[in-house]
Amino acid sequence: MRKVIIAGNWKMYKTQAEALEFLQGFLDHLGETPNDREIVICAPFTTLGTLSKNLHGTRIRIGAQNVHWEIAGAYTGEVSAPMLTELGVRYVVIGHSERRQYFGETDATVNLRLKAAQKHGLIPILCVGETKQQRDTGETEALIVGQLEKDLIDVDQGRLVIAYEPIWAIGTGDTCDATEANRIIGLIRSQLDNPNVSIQYGGSVKPGNVDEIMAQSEIDGALVGGASLAPNDFARIINYSCSQLG
Ligand code: 13P
Repeated sequence: MRKVIIAGNWKMYKTQAEALEFLQGFLDHLGETPNDREIVICAPFTTLGTLSKNLHGTRIRIGAQNVHWEIAGAYTGEVSAPMLTELGVRYVVIGHSERRQYFGETDATVNLRLKAAQKHGLIPILCVGETKQQRDTGETEALIVGQLEKDLIDVDQGRLVIAYEPIWAIGTGDTCDATEANRIIGLIRSQLDNPNVSIQYGGSVKPGNVDEIMAQSEIDGALVGGASLAPNDFARIINYSCSQLG
Protein backbone atom coordinates (compact mmCIF):
# COMPACT_ATOMS: atom_id res chain seq x y z
CA MET A 1 0.00 0.00 0.00
CA ARG A 2 1.37 3.40 -0.97
CA LYS A 3 1.18 5.82 1.92
CA VAL A 4 0.21 9.48 1.55
CA ILE A 5 3.03 11.59 3.00
CA ILE A 6 2.80 15.37 3.17
CA ALA A 7 6.09 16.90 4.27
CA GLY A 8 7.07 20.49 4.89
CA ASN A 9 10.65 21.39 4.07
CA TRP A 10 11.44 24.47 6.12
CA LYS A 11 14.87 24.87 4.47
CA MET A 12 16.93 27.48 6.38
CA TYR A 13 13.93 29.15 7.99
CA LYS A 14 12.74 29.43 11.60
CA THR A 15 14.50 29.88 14.90
CA GLN A 16 13.35 27.76 17.85
CA ALA A 17 11.00 30.55 18.94
CA GLU A 18 9.53 30.81 15.46
CA ALA A 19 9.10 27.04 15.27
CA LEU A 20 7.10 27.09 18.52
CA GLU A 21 4.99 29.94 17.25
CA PHE A 22 4.25 27.90 14.11
CA LEU A 23 3.08 24.94 16.21
CA GLN A 24 0.67 27.15 18.13
CA GLY A 25 -1.11 28.05 14.92
CA PHE A 26 -0.84 24.63 13.31
CA LEU A 27 -1.63 21.90 15.81
CA ASP A 28 -5.30 22.81 16.16
CA HIS A 29 -5.89 21.92 12.51
CA LEU A 30 -4.68 18.36 12.89
CA GLY A 31 -8.06 17.15 14.13
CA GLU A 32 -9.40 17.58 10.59
CA THR A 33 -6.63 15.54 8.96
CA PRO A 34 -7.54 12.01 7.85
CA ASN A 35 -5.60 9.42 9.86
CA ASP A 36 -4.05 7.69 6.88
CA ARG A 37 -1.95 10.75 5.96
CA GLU A 38 1.59 10.94 7.34
CA ILE A 39 2.50 14.52 8.25
CA VAL A 40 6.19 15.43 8.44
CA ILE A 41 8.07 18.64 9.21
CA CYS A 42 11.66 18.70 7.94
CA ALA A 43 13.28 21.44 9.97
CA PRO A 44 16.74 22.96 10.44
CA PHE A 45 19.00 20.98 12.79
CA THR A 46 18.76 23.69 15.46
CA THR A 47 14.98 23.31 15.88
CA LEU A 48 14.79 19.50 15.85
CA GLY A 49 15.18 19.09 19.63
CA THR A 50 12.53 21.67 20.42
CA LEU A 51 10.15 20.22 17.84
CA SER A 52 10.71 16.74 19.20
CA LYS A 53 9.80 17.79 22.75
CA ASN A 54 6.78 19.76 21.68
CA LEU A 55 5.44 17.20 19.20
CA HIS A 56 5.79 14.21 21.50
CA GLY A 57 2.47 12.38 21.56
CA THR A 58 1.19 14.04 18.39
CA ARG A 59 1.00 12.39 14.97
CA ILE A 60 3.51 14.77 13.37
CA ARG A 61 6.81 13.16 12.42
CA ILE A 62 10.05 15.09 12.37
CA GLY A 63 12.52 15.16 9.52
CA ALA A 64 16.00 16.59 9.00
CA GLN A 65 17.32 18.04 5.74
CA ASN A 66 20.62 16.21 5.46
CA VAL A 67 22.68 13.49 7.12
CA HIS A 68 26.31 12.39 6.88
CA TRP A 69 27.25 8.81 5.99
CA GLU A 70 29.64 8.25 8.92
CA ILE A 71 28.38 7.91 12.47
CA ALA A 72 31.10 10.23 13.83
CA GLY A 73 34.37 11.75 12.67
CA ALA A 74 36.29 14.84 11.64
CA TYR A 75 33.60 16.23 9.30
CA THR A 76 33.16 19.83 10.35
CA GLY A 77 29.65 21.10 9.83
CA GLU A 78 28.05 17.70 9.30
CA VAL A 79 25.51 15.77 11.42
CA SER A 80 25.25 11.99 11.70
CA ALA A 81 22.26 9.64 11.75
CA PRO A 82 22.60 8.65 15.44
CA MET A 83 22.62 12.35 16.36
CA LEU A 84 19.29 12.69 14.57
CA THR A 85 17.60 9.53 15.79
CA GLU A 86 18.51 10.47 19.38
CA LEU A 87 16.31 13.55 18.88
CA GLY A 88 13.38 11.49 17.63
CA VAL A 89 13.93 12.32 13.98
CA ARG A 90 12.22 9.81 11.66
CA TYR A 91 12.76 11.18 8.12
CA VAL A 92 15.59 12.92 6.31
CA VAL A 93 15.61 14.81 3.00
CA ILE A 94 18.56 13.69 0.87
CA GLY A 95 19.78 15.05 -2.44
CA HIS A 96 17.65 18.18 -2.49
CA SER A 97 18.48 20.22 -5.58
CA GLU A 98 19.67 23.09 -3.37
CA ARG A 99 22.27 20.77 -1.85
CA ARG A 100 23.24 19.46 -5.27
CA GLN A 101 23.45 22.99 -6.72
CA TYR A 102 25.06 25.01 -3.91
CA PHE A 103 26.92 22.45 -1.78
CA GLY A 104 28.49 20.06 -4.23
CA GLU A 105 26.21 17.11 -3.52
CA THR A 106 26.72 14.40 -6.13
CA ASP A 107 24.87 11.20 -6.92
CA ALA A 108 27.73 9.33 -5.21
CA THR A 109 27.38 11.27 -1.93
CA VAL A 110 23.59 11.08 -2.16
CA ASN A 111 23.92 7.31 -2.40
CA LEU A 112 26.19 7.18 0.67
CA ARG A 113 23.79 9.34 2.67
CA LEU A 114 20.77 7.24 1.66
CA LYS A 115 22.40 4.00 2.78
CA ALA A 116 23.62 5.48 6.07
CA ALA A 117 20.19 6.95 6.84
CA GLN A 118 18.50 3.59 6.32
CA LYS A 119 21.13 1.69 8.27
CA HIS A 120 20.32 3.81 11.32
CA GLY A 121 16.54 3.65 10.98
CA LEU A 122 15.83 6.94 9.23
CA ILE A 123 13.50 7.03 6.22
CA PRO A 124 15.11 9.04 3.45
CA ILE A 125 13.16 11.36 1.16
CA LEU A 126 15.27 11.29 -2.00
CA CYS A 127 14.82 14.33 -4.25
CA VAL A 128 15.27 14.13 -8.01
CA GLY A 129 14.40 16.58 -10.76
CA GLU A 130 15.54 18.50 -13.80
CA THR A 131 16.54 22.11 -14.48
CA LYS A 132 14.64 24.34 -16.87
CA GLN A 133 17.37 23.94 -19.43
CA GLN A 134 17.32 20.16 -19.19
CA ARG A 135 13.55 20.22 -19.65
CA ASP A 136 13.77 22.54 -22.64
CA THR A 137 16.34 20.34 -24.35
CA GLY A 138 14.31 17.17 -23.81
CA GLU A 139 16.65 15.63 -21.25
CA THR A 140 14.17 15.33 -18.37
CA GLU A 141 13.47 11.62 -18.61
CA ALA A 142 17.09 10.55 -19.13
CA LEU A 143 18.29 12.81 -16.31
CA ILE A 144 15.80 11.41 -13.83
CA VAL A 145 16.39 7.80 -14.83
CA GLY A 146 20.14 8.44 -14.45
CA GLN A 147 19.75 10.03 -11.02
CA LEU A 148 17.67 7.08 -9.80
CA GLU A 149 20.10 4.54 -11.20
CA LYS A 150 23.07 6.09 -9.40
CA ASP A 151 21.35 7.24 -6.22
CA LEU A 152 19.58 3.95 -5.48
CA ILE A 153 22.48 1.50 -5.75
CA ASP A 154 22.07 -0.91 -2.78
CA VAL A 155 19.30 1.24 -1.29
CA ASP A 156 16.37 -0.57 0.38
CA GLN A 157 13.24 0.40 -1.54
CA GLY A 158 11.10 -0.84 1.34
CA ARG A 159 12.12 2.15 3.46
CA LEU A 160 12.25 4.96 0.99
CA VAL A 161 10.28 8.01 -0.13
CA ILE A 162 11.05 9.80 -3.39
CA ALA A 163 10.18 13.40 -4.24
CA TYR A 164 10.01 14.58 -7.83
CA GLU A 165 11.04 18.22 -7.64
CA PRO A 166 11.49 19.94 -11.00
CA ILE A 167 14.06 22.63 -10.15
CA TRP A 168 12.33 25.26 -12.29
CA ALA A 169 9.19 24.88 -10.16
CA ILE A 170 10.92 25.36 -6.78
CA GLY A 171 10.22 28.70 -5.14
CA THR A 172 9.11 30.20 -8.43
CA GLY A 173 5.31 29.91 -8.21
CA ASP A 174 5.63 28.12 -11.55
CA THR A 175 4.06 24.76 -10.60
CA CYS A 176 4.58 21.81 -12.87
CA ASP A 177 1.25 20.97 -14.52
CA ALA A 178 -0.36 18.29 -12.34
CA THR A 179 -0.76 15.83 -15.22
CA GLU A 180 2.88 16.31 -16.26
CA ALA A 181 4.04 15.75 -12.67
CA ASN A 182 1.89 12.62 -12.69
CA ARG A 183 3.55 11.42 -15.89
CA ILE A 184 7.08 11.89 -14.55
CA ILE A 185 6.18 10.25 -11.25
CA GLY A 186 4.79 7.31 -13.22
CA LEU A 187 8.14 7.17 -15.02
CA ILE A 188 9.97 7.17 -11.67
CA ARG A 189 7.75 4.33 -10.42
CA SER A 190 8.48 2.31 -13.56
CA GLN A 191 12.18 2.42 -12.66
CA LEU A 192 11.67 0.96 -9.17
CA ASP A 193 11.63 -2.65 -7.99
CA ASN A 194 9.09 -1.86 -5.28
CA PRO A 195 5.77 -0.49 -6.63
CA ASN A 196 4.76 0.66 -3.14
CA VAL A 197 7.34 3.42 -2.73
CA SER A 198 5.53 6.68 -1.92
CA ILE A 199 6.45 9.33 -4.48
CA GLN A 200 5.80 12.99 -3.74
CA TYR A 201 5.62 16.04 -5.94
CA GLY A 202 7.47 19.18 -4.84
CA GLY A 203 7.70 22.65 -6.39
CA SER A 204 5.38 25.56 -5.57
CA VAL A 205 2.73 23.40 -3.90
CA LYS A 206 0.20 25.83 -2.43
CA PRO A 207 -3.27 25.74 -0.83
CA GLY A 208 -4.70 26.63 -4.25
CA ASN A 209 -3.18 23.78 -6.25
CA VAL A 210 -2.74 20.94 -3.75
CA ASP A 211 -6.18 19.41 -4.40
CA GLU A 212 -5.48 18.98 -8.10
CA ILE A 213 -1.97 17.65 -7.48
CA MET A 214 -3.16 15.10 -4.93
CA ALA A 215 -5.97 13.97 -7.24
CA GLN A 216 -3.39 12.50 -9.66
CA SER A 217 -3.17 8.73 -9.68
CA GLU A 218 0.61 8.40 -9.33
CA ILE A 219 1.20 11.20 -6.81
CA ASP A 220 1.34 10.03 -3.20
CA GLY A 221 2.17 13.24 -1.42
CA ALA A 222 3.84 16.61 -1.49
CA LEU A 223 7.13 18.10 -0.38
CA VAL A 224 6.28 21.68 0.43
CA GLY A 225 8.75 24.54 0.81
CA GLY A 226 7.47 28.11 1.17
CA ALA A 227 3.86 27.23 1.93
CA SER A 228 4.89 24.99 4.84
CA LEU A 229 6.19 28.00 6.76
CA ALA A 230 2.76 29.52 7.38
CA PRO A 231 0.55 27.49 9.75
CA ASN A 232 -2.71 28.17 7.95
CA ASP A 233 -1.29 27.41 4.50
CA PHE A 234 0.35 24.18 5.60
CA ALA A 235 -2.82 23.18 7.46
CA ARG A 236 -4.85 23.68 4.28
CA ILE A 237 -2.31 21.58 2.38
CA ILE A 238 -2.35 18.63 4.78
CA ASN A 239 -6.15 18.82 4.78
CA TYR A 240 -6.38 18.76 0.99
CA SER A 241 -9.53 17.32 -0.49
CA CYS A 242 -9.96 15.91 -3.97
CA SER A 243 -13.72 15.54 -3.68
CA GLN A 244 -14.56 19.09 -4.79
CA LEU A 245 -12.76 18.81 -8.12
CA GLY A 246 -14.93 18.75 -11.22
P1 13P B 1 8.63 25.52 -2.77
O1 13P B 1 7.39 24.80 -2.27
O2 13P B 1 8.93 26.76 -1.99
O3 13P B 1 8.59 25.72 -4.24
O4 13P B 1 9.87 24.54 -2.46
C1 13P B 1 9.79 23.22 -2.88
C2 13P B 1 10.92 22.48 -2.28
O5 13P B 1 12.07 22.69 -2.62
C3 13P B 1 10.61 21.49 -1.23
O6 13P B 1 11.72 20.70 -0.93
